[in-house]
Amino acid sequence: MFEPSIELYDDQVNNDFTVAILQLIFWAVLARRLYRLPFSKTAHKLRRSSRRLVVGVVVGALLVPARLFTILVMGGYGPQFAADRLWIGLPLVAVPTIFALVLTLPRLRRFAVAEVADRQAPPTPEQRLRAAAPAVTLPARAMTIGALIAFARLIFAPTPPLFIPALLTFAVAGGWILVLGRRHRARTAGVDVRPMPRGGARTRRNLVGTVTVLALVAVYAAWDWQTSKLPDSYSMMDHAMTYGDGPEVSGHGHLAAGAGGAKVPSVSVADLTGPRTGVPDKRFTLTATDARMKLSSSAEVDAVVFNGQLPGPELRVREGDLVEVTLVNRTRDVPTTLHWHGVDVPNAEDGVAGVTQDAVAPGKSHTYRWVAGQTGTYWYHSHQQSSVQVRRGLFGPLVIEKADPGPANLKEFTLAAHVWDTDKGEISSLNSYDTLRRETVPAGTPVRIRLVNSDNFLKTFTLAGVPFKVTALDGNDVNAPTELSKVKLPLGGGGRYDLEFVMPAGPVRFADLAAPDAGLLITPDGKGELAPLLEAPDFDPTRYGSPRPTPFGPGSDFDRSFQLILDNKPGFFDGTPYYLWTVNGSVFPHIPMLMVREGELVKVTVVNRSFLEHPLHLHGHRVLVLSRNGKPVTGSPVWLDTVTVVDGETYELAFKADNPGVWMDHCHNLEHAAMGMTIHLAYENVHTPYLAGRATGNVPE
Ligand code: C2O
Ligand code: CU
Repeated sequence: MFEPSIELYDDQVNNDFTVAILQLIFWAVLARRLYRLPFSKTAHKLRRSSRRLVVGVVVGALLVPARLFTILVMGGYGPQFAADRLWIGLPLVAVPTIFALVLTLPRLRRFAVAEVADRQAPPTPEQRLRAAAPAVTLPARAMTIGALIAFARLIFAPTPPLFIPALLTFAVAGGWILVLGRRHRARTAGVDVRPMPRGGARTRRNLVGTVTVLALVAVYAAWDWQTSKLPDSYSMMDHAMTYGDGPEVSGHGHLAAGAGGAKVPSVSVADLTGPRTGVPDKRFTLTATDARMKLSSSAEVDAVVFNGQLPGPELRVREGDLVEVTLVNRTRDVPTTLHWHGVDVPNAEDGVAGVTQDAVAPGKSHTYRWVAGQTGTYWYHSHQQSSVQVRRGLFGPLVIEKADPGPANLKEFTLAAHVWDTDKGEISSLNSYDTLRRETVPAGTPVRIRLVNSDNFLKTFTLAGVPFKVTALDGNDVNAPTELSKVKLPLGGGGRYDLEFVMPAGPVRFADLAAPDAGLLITPDGKGELAPLLEAPDFDPTRYGSPRPTPFGPGSDFDRSFQLILDNKPGFFDGTPYYLWTVNGSVFPHIPMLMVREGELVKVTVVNRSFLEHPLHLHGHRVLVLSRNGKPVTGSPVWLDTVTVVDGETYELAFKADNPGVWMDHCHNLEHAAMGMTIHLAYENVHTPYLAGRATGNVPE
């Protein structure tokens, strides 16, 4: 409808909120004035007030088209941004407004033009009764209620299908208005208007109203609080499953439906391992320890690290290698795991505590074995209480080299952009450098920067002093990348970029704009300075490089489709109140599992109605971007494992269900995941024997 601007999305939401609040306040005042109109001191004052109220009703009515406008603007971002506003919020205010225009307005106009003989005389009982008629007072009151409920609906946005939420909302509004209507009618039952309650009676009435509302809110909150609590021990198999849009799949319990309805044992996640035998091509040991570490500025981090390094050592393997990594836990009290972010390993090697294994306790070890089937830049990190452990340092880069590793003089920099909690506060760094890092690379040398965003938030990077190519997104090669200069590279939490250039004769500066004074300065001769590039347009991966055939695409026949609507609402997660980050209106464990059958082609539509970007990370699969904000990908195919959906955006994604297991699909703002922004993708007839929860020691997020 309107061409949406993603940068302006938050402003548009605020505009819509503002009109909704204005409507509420304006009509609340109007309703109060109308209710008191019969008690004007004189007939003259009644006439004067009526004139003002005529203007008030007209202005108040204009707020409906104003709201319609802000709703249509929201609709520009996509139907899921406007549907609830249009079909639930708008009728709640439009219908009472029509009543106010049809019933209240003509009556007010009659009072406004009435002859007043004696300016000092009080209104007659008859005049008072007419001014107190429900046709005069009730529509405005109904409007206040409608606006109040419409506003609450904005805060607790319902998710489709909207039919039931709409019905419930209208029922509550209608019931409330009926109750009030009886009171309004009762006022005019006698020969004169029943006087307004005063003193004790009035206090009592207000008290009863307030207590009733508070009691209802308290009951809802208590119920929400209790049902949010996670059991001390639970299985991912316990939560509800969803079939999305597609054929029904048989259950996912320890028993699955076999031929003729017989129950057959389903596959255990524990059996979906990598090769258990065979001599590994690459073997690593990662030993976790507690350590006090220093950044380059000498700020200190109370860290947990692998092999005494911050971040952990770079693991380098080659395409096709059988990789064996042994995790040894020598921490005092940090049970942990290893997850291979972006590598589609067999499910049992995925490293998610409570889903694919038990957390490795201090003093214990665990060995992971998998074959490197992909190439590119990845990373490994703990998947036990990851919001805390990754932040403190239990992560490192993982590079899978191509069979042909490129020119012999290629110079590589692997940089993890991280935010550390230090004794000097929160500090952004590239690896352990929170000050400017200087490197010397001879002119003419091919350079590759492997960039990992190991932080929670979207970060913006720039590379100044040289034209460069973005050669890979999340480890996946870009087809026919072209040269870029003067762009900002936005990268969500968990995501990766590979950047390549040939070292020029002058300096090159790479910067994380969160800490532009730090960064990496590469010079050909150890001399020279270059300021970081601070302002430039954003790089858009969906319009970069050239198309290339993909195994499936926007026109494919999908076996199954899901819609994930990301939003906010006040509520509880595991007994603690938060402003929640929700998926389809709920948080873990109340978000249903995404259930698929092996071999299916699956489409996922992600709509971000919330106030922040969410880097959605699906384990075990790569997803192909079909469209972004309704526009198809025009450049190279975009394959990702972490899709950062900015607020206001809609992504259509597709993947092939070709890696059976129970997989995490969560926001890689690990704080959000830890507050319940976590889903699972599970295959039919696969179950996990592992348990999560306080009593089990497994904390998947
Ligand atoms: Cu990088 Cu589920 O994680
Ligand atoms: Cu998030």
